[in-house]
Amino acid sequence: DVMKEVFDTRAMEEDLQKKLGIPEVHIVPGNSDEYSWVQQEMGRACVSLIKRKMISKENILAVTGGTSIAAVAEMLVPDSDLKEALFVPARGGLGEQVENQANTICATMARKAMGSYRLLHVPDQLSKEAYESLINEDSVQQILKLIKSATIVIHGIGEAQTMAERRNSSDEVLRNLKDTKAVAEAFGYYFNESGDIVHKVLTIGLQLEDLKNIPHVISVAGGASKAQSIQAYMKQCPSEVLVTDEGAAKEILK
Ligand code: G3H
Repeated sequence: DVMKEVFDTRAMEEDLQKKLGIPEVHIVPGNSDEYSWVQQEMGRACVSLIKRKMISKENILAVTGGTSIAAVAEMLVPDSDLKEALFVPARGGLGEQVENQANTICATMARKAMGSYRLLHVPDQLSKEAYESLINEDSVQQILKLIKSATIVIHGIGEAQTMAERRNSSDEVLRNLKDTKAVAEAFGYYFNESGDIVHKVLTIGLQLEDLKNIPHVISVAGGASKAQSIQAYMKQCPSEVLVTDEGAAKEILK
């Protein structure tokens, strides 16, 4: 019956909080590896969470790319607090297709929520020299300041090899990820099973160490296939809330 299902989800959320060592977990029914509506439900759950985490004054929401965060964007609707919010991409280009890029998702969120947005225009494959000169640009400095003062960060977690291939990473990078046994990806950082960083895409924007200064960090990742990735990421990275699905939750708790 319904009451039992509600109770079971709650129990599973508590088990997962303990197992991953994070304060808050929300689980939606189903497995997003099998059905795309499950990802939409995670999106919906994340939207209500965002509203709860908003503070009374200026909210700056930094978002990453990926299909999970794109699903969050799709679920946003205007609301008095969101209209005052500023949306920014967490980091510059990571080699994704347009629909999966943080800039695109950020603009969609602002349009759906009727809020405002600022974009970060940096090419994907940055050389060290290009990186050094870009970060000193005035316009880049301005948006970087906004990104680093984000009040809420919303990000996805991916499986390492899947993400590297989707981003058309070079053979050298793919080989390196295999050699270092990368299993997870978030923000363009790749992690091994213990949660150690084994590779990082060179781009400007939020760096992993900035996360500890951000009041609310919301991770959105589901599907049984991401169980290991979610666990690895949570080993060392500060996350306040995980929005996931039953597929991932059951696999992690096995
Ligand atoms: O930035 C990408 C995420 O880490 C994972 O992407 O939500 O499409 O699985 P996804």
